[in-house]
Amino acid sequence: MVKILFVCLGNICRSPTAHGVFEKMVADANLAAQIGIESAGTAAYHVGESPDIRACQAASDRGYDLSHIRARQVMAADFKNFDYILAMDHANVQNLRRNSDTAYHGKIELFLQYGSQCDITEVPDPYYGGKKGFQQVLDLVEDAAEGLLTQLRSQL
Ligand code: 4NP
Repeated sequence: MVKILFVCLGNICRSPTAHGVFEKMVADANLAAQIGIESAGTAAYHVGESPDIRACQAASDRGYDLSHIRARQVMAADFKNFDYILAMDHANVQNLRRNSDTAYHGKIELFLQYGSQCDITEVPDPYYGGKKGFQQVLDLVEDAAEGLLTQLRSQL
């Protein structure tokens, strides 16, 4: 099984959106037994919480269910256990690299590396903004998720 960890700051907006979107894409492709998916935050502010209600609503409007996801913080074992550690922004990458052995740094990438727009590298944090920000998160996440699935298919 290939194991994917999506990471953002709080694990209540961006990474649970990526988690739910990619989970549905993988299930629809009948690959759920071969691709494991989790998400986590670099910060512990929201541990144990459901995703932000605005993220849940925006995802639900496009047919994704985030209700089973609970926030957790990245832990040391994640660096060993996951094959791909995909961060939403540069600050997440820096935090992950600072807190892990250099042997694992090759696993830590920007999620949007798998997207089709090479000029957009980060999923902007929607937490302090409005509804539009959550829709933009979904646009970017859906696009990069397609690219990620294509990459994984080539190695399964
Ligand atoms: P996320 O968004 O990293 O996409 O989950 C945030 C959630 C919470 C906070 C910041 C960003 N916060 O400061 O509590």
